[in-house]
Amino acid sequence: MKKRVFSGIRPTGKLHLGNYLGAVKQWLKLQDKYDCIYAVVDYHGITTPFDPQKMQQNILNVVLDYLALGLNPKKCSLIIQSHLPEHLELAWILGSVTSLAKLQHLPTFKEKVKLHPAYVNLGMLSYPVLMAADILIYKSNFVPVGKDQLPHIEFSREIARKFNRTFGKVFPEPKALLTRGARIMSLTDPEQKMSKSLGPQSYIALADSLKVIEAKIAKAVTDVGPRKGAKMSPGTANLFTLMQEFSDSKTLSYFKAKYKKGTIRYSEMKKALACDIAKAFEPFRKRRLELAKKPSYIKKILEEGAKKARKTAQETIKEVKKKIGLL
Ligand code: AMP
Ligand code: TRP
Repeated sequence: MKKRVFSGIRPTGKLHLGNYLGAVKQWLKLQDKYDCIYAVVDYHGITTPFDPQKMQQNILNVVLDYLALGLNPKKCSLIIQSHLPEHLELAWILGSVTSLAKLQHLPTFKEKVKLHPAYVNLGMLSYPVLMAADILIYKSNFVPVGKDQLPHIEFSREIARKFNRTFGKVFPEPKALLTRGARIMSLTDPEQKMSKSLGPQSYIALADSLKVIEAKIAKAVTDVGPRKGAKMSPGTANLFTLMQEFSDSKTLSYFKAKYKKGTIRYSEMKKALACDIAKAFEPFRKRRLELAKKPSYIKKILEEGAKKARKTAQETIKEVKKKIGLL
């Protein structure tokens, strides 16, 4: 039997370069080898401030991005988390083997509290329990995520161990599949990771046009002027990371050499980079436009994904309920 892979992204808008390089790029390769389930985790999306009016559009945006990037519904199941209430059922049960103190000490929780001090809610605290349920309900073996999610995966492993120890073995311990080195930083504040929450100028959406990409990169923070021998600033390093991903090796070494000599002109580098990023996603943008015209096709894919996933999810819930004496 093929090993199971699960991952998900919150519906906070269109996917950006960080989501692609840190997550979906890897998912694409995995779908050929494993039994993959990829989700839009909308219940996670309501743990931080959100606009109910925009929720459906945001969910659709992520699904369109998934499909246009090449996630293939013939090879993997695409699901919307809230279409499968079994996730919540398991999360509640796992809550009873979860340490409250550990939840409160997770760095991801502390960061969110800092970011949204007026929105600290129970869902924000138990976010990792629901994430563990997402993963464990399908008895997933691998979870491809960015580095920032590692504490959550470790937490899921702990919950699985604790459940197995207490009630008898049900869950495998899921392993994170890390994308090496791909932490993309914000264009406006390169000390922080690229994220939709830092404002539209800080990230490049995969669906952005050349014009938009050019404008955003033109304003990206670099350094006041390259100084010979000084350490590369985070903003400049971020642009070089992107260049390594999207430009050819000739372009990359041309600008690297200029940087070393201290003669680099960032405006020239930024133009080249914007062009290469836009070019890389040109077929994606075309496919996305086509898909957006076919809402019934999208609906069908999600229904089929949910149907397949539901079978496994219900089997797991049954097994879990038996173990804890609820059946
Ligand atoms: P999020 O948008 O925070 O739900 O993230 C979805 C996925 O993209 C997760 O696997 C993250 O690790 C990954 N991700 C988000 N932002 C970045 C970033 N700036 N660099 C690398 N990976 C990221
Ligand atoms: N917490 C993840 C993030 O912010 C999203 C997520 C929710 C997830 N459930 C998951 C990722 C299960 C992997 C597996 O990116």
